[in-house]
Amino acid sequence: MNPPLLQVNGLKTYFNTPAGLSKAVDGVSFSLQPGETMAIVGESGSGKSITALSIMQLVPEPAGYIESGTISFDGQDLLDLTWEQMRSIRGRQISMIFQEPMTSLNPVFTIGYQIREAMLTHDKFKGESATSRARSLLERVGMPSPNKVLRQYPHELSGGMRQRVMIAIALANEPRLLLADEPTTALDVTIQAQILTLLRDLQRDTGMSMLLITHDLGIVSQVADKVAVMYAGQIVEQSPTNTLLSNPLHPYTQGLIASLPSRSRRGQELYTLEGVVPPPTRWPAGCRFHDRCSKRLQICDSQMPLATKYDDTRSVSCHLYPAQEMAGNQERLK
Ligand SMILES: Nc1ncnc2c1ncn2[C@@H]1O[C@H](COP(=O)(O)OP(=O)(O)OP(=O)(O)O)[C@@H](O)[C@H]1O
Ligand SMILES: [Mg+2]
Repeated sequence: MNPPLLQVNGLKTYFNTPAGLSKAVDGVSFSLQPGETMAIVGESGSGKSITALSIMQLVPEPAGYIESGTISFDGQDLLDLTWEQMRSIRGRQISMIFQEPMTSLNPVFTIGYQIREAMLTHDKFKGESATSRARSLLERVGMPSPNKVLRQYPHELSGGMRQRVMIAIALANEPRLLLADEPTTALDVTIQAQILTLLRDLQRDTGMSMLLITHDLGIVSQVADKVAVMYAGQIVEQSPTNTLLSNPLHPYTQGLIASLPSRSRRGQELYTLEGVVPPPTRWPAGCRFHDRCSKRLQICDSQMPLATKYDDTRSVSCHLYPAQEMAGNQERLK
């Protein structure tokens, strides 16, 4: 196998808050191959956005900070870089589509200006006229009337069009890695499908890797090669997408999938996962999911399960699965 493009190891990103230390991301590890798409799923507050912002080193300071871990991109630990070095990687080699598109576009500048700005901060395409490249980027993201849009301001565009602009800006310098944080959440279903198809096509054409953050498992099945399920600041299961959807291991993943509206379950009552993700200043002891888990064992409220390889492609953090701690197995036999 090729060396991974991105390898995150033991990432912990914490915040000092009035309510205490918030362990928003608390020991996350995963890797991404060139050209691969991994989805991160999980309920609100599980640490998905903070994981992506940590990779970009855009965690809101001074409250937020990376406590420990490594983020290796193309063999180099991003956490060792200076601010200047990181700035030259951001937007050029690693781009991000942010969760709130309106806050990332400047209302007082035209779309054309903002796309050109994104390109001009980097030197990759110096020969080509900035305007013609901006126009071809808009064409590439399926924007109708790109010439007109170049002269327009953000408020003149629909949500779907603004999101296309954000994608165009993120792709302006042909990044090797795209972090897409809920790229379609604000859009209606038809536009959602168009944007997802677009991202997939662009990825196929450019060979970039993508980390797609979403709380929507339906989207995952359309786009991702593999999935990391996050709960309470940790990854509880990693698996190829099809395997995850057909044979989820972790009770939390099982709950997420059971609560998906699907054709096969039409007419039946929809399952809902009881309870909410606890606040990150007060993660429960043991398995952080134990108080919501219908399959919990005695050990679960006192010992945190370790991430364990289940087979060649999957890993899971749950006491239900053998080859983990012996204690977990003994508990199971009781
Ligand atoms: N600036 C901040 N200061 C303090 N805590 C923060 C800050 N930003 C995020 N957090 C906390 O970190 C935790 C993880 O947040 P994050 O935004 O990563 O969640 P998420 O999984 O992306 O959720 P959502 O699906 O709602 O976008 C949350 O509990 C949040 O309260
Ligand atoms: Mg988020």
